[in-house]
Amino acid sequence: MPEAPAPRTPSGAGLLTASGVTMQFGGLRALNDVSFGLSEGEIIGLIGPNGAGKTTFFNCLTGLYAPTSGSVALRGTPLPQDPAKVTDRGIARTFQNIRLFPSMTAEENVLVGRHVRMKQGPLSSLLHGPGFKRSEAEARSRTAELLEFVGLTRFSGELARNLPYGDQRRLEIARALATEPSVLLLDEPTAGMNAQETEATRQLIFGIRDLGTSVVVIEHDTKFIFTLCDRVLVLVQGELLVEGSPDEVRGDPRVVEAYLGAPPDEVEHQIHAAEENP
Ligand SMILES: Nc1ncnc2c1ncn2[C@@H]1O[C@H](COP(=O)(O)OP(=O)(O)OP(=O)(O)O)[C@@H](O)[C@H]1O
Ligand SMILES: [Mg+2]
Repeated sequence: MPEAPAPRTPSGAGLLTASGVTMQFGGLRALNDVSFGLSEGEIIGLIGPNGAGKTTFFNCLTGLYAPTSGSVALRGTPLPQDPAKVTDRGIARTFQNIRLFPSMTAEENVLVGRHVRMKQGPLSSLLHGPGFKRSEAEARSRTAELLEFVGLTRFSGELARNLPYGDQRRLEIARALATEPSVLLLDEPTAGMNAQETEATRQLIFGIRDLGTSVVVIEHDTKFIFTLCDRVLVLVQGELLVEGSPDEVRGDPRVVEAYLGAPPDEVEHQIHAAEENP
């Protein structure tokens, strides 16, 4: 009797799993049968050329897009195709093109994220009863902690649009963390940052992981990815080309050919230089 095909289980364990996700836009297949699994305490990197489908994959994980086929689950339970409900279930994200409320202060932007977690009903908010005042005070105190955690305390009362670009990216991370996620998805968190800001962001992501939030990060800066992540996925033209440890991925000839565009020893040299002079 022929053996039954092995079930296609994603390699990571069961915090967040995607199984056979395909996303078709008219004639364009932006994602083709992509599976992955994120474990508790893990940092996964998602790399690939422009247009590979990285952001589309985040959009499928967060309910912004309904995949043409395939499914996404958190701790084994399928996720609803509704971004607000997905946030509620514990997945937060930042956007490739920053989406802050520009005319609100840094503090107010984080409070917006915090309100997702507030238990008070609309009537209590309307009447501003004692329960409302208590939870509002808690929200403000947690917001202050988060602003300090991302290094933005000094900008608390500043309008988001006046913050330097790199700080706006950090503010978006603080707002995402305010929803108390178990999974944080970061879409190009160091785009536009200098080397020092990039290193600060790397340390910030380690700190987020150490506090118990698992992270998936999209980034074009491969040095950043290889020195940050436990596991790296390479997406090319909507397909998962390679998945493995940073060492496995950066030495894989298919990755070098399809994406990194440099011979393995040269990539190796760049990585070591980055590790020695972060
Ligand atoms: N809503 C949409 N409608 C039609 N096509 C889309 C839509 N969203 C994405 N695409 C297409 O899907 C493909 C993948 O896009 P995506 O933004 O996911 O790539 P990416 O890997 O994030 O690229 P980049 O590194 O440039 O951000 C592209 O060809 C893009 O034009
Ligand atoms: Mg993108």
